[in-house]
Amino acid sequence: MTDLRGDGRAALEWAASYLERVGDLPVLAQVAPGEIAARLPDAAPEEGEPFAAVLRDLDEILMPGVTHWQHPRYFAYFATSASEPAILAELLAATLNSVSILWRTAPAATELEGVVLRWTAKLLGLPPDWHGHIEDSASTSTLAAIIAARKATGRELVVCSEQAHSSVEKAARMLRMRLRKVPCDEEFRLRPEALGDLSEAAAVVATVGTTAATSVDPVPAIAQACAQAGTWLHVDAAYAGTAMVCPELRWAFAGVERADSVVVNAHKWMLTPMDCSLLWSRRPEDLRAAFSLIPEYLRTPDAEDALSLSEYGPALGRRFRALKLWAVLRCHGRSGLQAHVRSGIELASRFERWVAQEPGWELCAPRPFSVVCFRREGPDEGNRALLEAVNRSGEIFISHAVLNGRYVLRLAIGQLRTTEADVTRAWEVIRRAGSVT
Ligand SMILES: Cc1ncc(COP(=O)(O)O)c(C=O)c1O
Repeated sequence: MTDLRGDGRAALEWAASYLERVGDLPVLAQVAPGEIAARLPDAAPEEGEPFAAVLRDLDEILMPGVTHWQHPRYFAYFATSASEPAILAELLAATLNSVSILWRTAPAATELEGVVLRWTAKLLGLPPDWHGHIEDSASTSTLAAIIAARKATGRELVVCSEQAHSSVEKAARMLRMRLRKVPCDEEFRLRPEALGDLSEAAAVVATVGTTAATSVDPVPAIAQACAQAGTWLHVDAAYAGTAMVCPELRWAFAGVERADSVVVNAHKWMLTPMDCSLLWSRRPEDLRAAFSLIPEYLRTPDAEDALSLSEYGPALGRRFRALKLWAVLRCHGRSGLQAHVRSGIELASRFERWVAQEPGWELCAPRPFSVVCFRREGPDEGNRALLEAVNRSGEIFISHAVLNGRYVLRLAIGQLRTTEADVTRAWEVIRRAGSVT
């Protein structure tokens, strides 16, 4: 039996002390594939065990196999943070276990979702009258937008840049739609003059903050071309969308108000744990036309039906994700989110300066936000070996990209706990590895 109060105190204590000591652990899990599974029994126990046994095995068996996304020196892919208010809200959401299949099964969860999406739209400068709801991931949000676009236009082509996230190609592949990849300019932005004829395009996906170089596609020109061709414009701002909370960064989002749909992942830069992907659309009726399918057992009076968010996306049962976002928005506030974004950008700009000033190193892309793309001059092999060496050290975790056919290193800042000392240490570790690899 689990004693919610007693075991709960122990679990909370575990969480608090983990966050205090996470910076002392190796960032990247130091285990081989299969090692963790081999340490676990072949079957579930016959009789229930005390919760303390779960906590013990979390420490003894699982922890060596954890890559620490909450580590202050996590700099890979896009660094993310689960902030304390959202961690607590996840506990409460699981406690309530609200399942939003219909408005009446979860009125508070449904209505809070609408409210926090309106709040977030206002914070980010998006039109507050857009319809917003939460999906699990940007991959699902983009898939949903493309499905709505196909239904609305009756067309079978998706267009994006060669730097767009693989989720666009995956969506097109799953939907058996054709995909056209448009070349980019020297700063990794979609070249609008290369969009070509859009008369057969269901959707163009523009990216604000691409995965490799965080480049910003020219949304106003793309929006213009989409409007002329009757094509749905979906903006993927999964990572960079959070930066819209800072007025000085809004230049990057010019034209986004002309999009048909926009995705921003709160679980990337918005201090919210996986999973929480925010999808807005100014054409909710097209989403509803694509996704609404109400079997008899789910029929309720019309007024209620209209509010069921399961009619706007692929999933029927939806969890109470709005609670954690609400907790983040209330406990950090606009100023807290701005401070988080600005601090990441400031730290990234310092790192960028250090690289620029160091002989034998080069920057590989402009840096609009908090990600620096760089490399040691010389062959790709040396950079690949360097990446492996620094990640194996456990002191930092960085990732790579290929830009202009060359292997480049990526340092992504976005962890709430990252300080200047952590970034300084990262540069020391990288330079040291660069001198021996
Ligand atoms: C620009 C962009 N879009 C979409 C995604 C996919 O996000 P998700 O993991 O939420 O599907 C990513 C992932 O990093 C991304 O960088």
